[in-house]
Amino acid sequence: MTLFGEFLRNDHRRMHKWYQYFPAYEAHFARFRNRHVTLFEIGVGEGGALDLWRGYLGPFATLVGLDVYPRCRQLEGEQIHIRIGSQTDLGFLAAVVAEFGAPDIVIDDGSHLQHHINATFDFLYPKVAKNGVYLVEDLHAAYWPNHGGGLRRPGTFIETAKAYVDKIHADYIGETSIRTEAGDRTTSIHFYDSLVVFEVGEARKMMNKTTGQSERFDGTWAPEGTDKTEFSKLVDQIVDNIEKEGPEWETDPINDDRDAIIRNLQAELTLLRISSSWRMTEPVRAVLRLLRRRRTA
Ligand SMILES: C[S@@+](CC[C@H](N)C(=O)[O-])C[C@H]1O[C@@H](n2cnc3c(N)ncnc32)[C@H](O)[C@@H]1O
Repeated sequence: MTLFGEFLRNDHRRMHKWYQYFPAYEAHFARFRNRHVTLFEIGVGEGGALDLWRGYLGPFATLVGLDVYPRCRQLEGEQIHIRIGSQTDLGFLAAVVAEFGAPDIVIDDGSHLQHHINATFDFLYPKVAKNGVYLVEDLHAAYWPNHGGGLRRPGTFIETAKAYVDKIHADYIGETSIRTEAGDRTTSIHFYDSLVVFEVGEARKMMNKTTGQSERFDGTWAPEGTDKTEFSKLVDQIVDNIEKEGPEWETDPINDDRDAIIRNLQAELTLLRISSSWRMTEPVRAVLRLLRRRRTA
């Protein structure tokens, strides 16, 4: 039975979910099944979802429901703990973390007010365990003014999530001001309809290497039907152009593609500065292909 199947079959405590959430839940939560995991659900409602998570995650899961509404207490049960307080009360959140430890999964389905979601995220996200996941639901509210939302409105959680796209690239940009520990631990960010999911790893290490043998650009390869020496000269000429940062392109007849070419060349120049490997020069090869197509057109 899939999670969606369990949801449809539910005839016990009430819950409301958008259908598109189910494939995302399965994609991000499946690895936690039958393991010792701690899930925080912010916003318990009538408790239906906590039952669903218990059934899905299995007998070793600890489920902690956080809600402002005191009557939610009565939803405590096997594996299910309820703590009453606001998602904006950092002292309350700290006490819950102190009691249950770092959460592996956080689901924010609380007030849906954007400043609340941000306050909770700012505090709880850095505390998520390694390999954990932080999921925020009903983010259509990020576009609703009565929830503090609006299209591209600063302060919505959608904007927070977008800013994380830059944070996870902070090292490459060399922009230390956007770098945070939580950003460094973010391995991926997933945007779905009304849902954003952050996957957490450990502090990013920038690692890369080139492996394998270069077959094509060792100076002896040329496209079929092309003279190897001529081809090699053409490649050298393009590399020269890159280093001159392309003034020649000003007079090149392929003016309509000049901007794209220069962008490619600039990117390539950076690559060339850090690597002498031909395998890193795909943009040059792309330009070359373009040139050849244009010249034979
Ligand atoms: C949409 S319901 C949750 C539904 C539940 N997660 C489910 O899937 O069935 C929202 C819940 O958030 C709670 N809530 C509202 N504001 C809150 C706040 N500031 N802190 C914590 N919970 C809040 C409400 O009391 C309500 O129970």
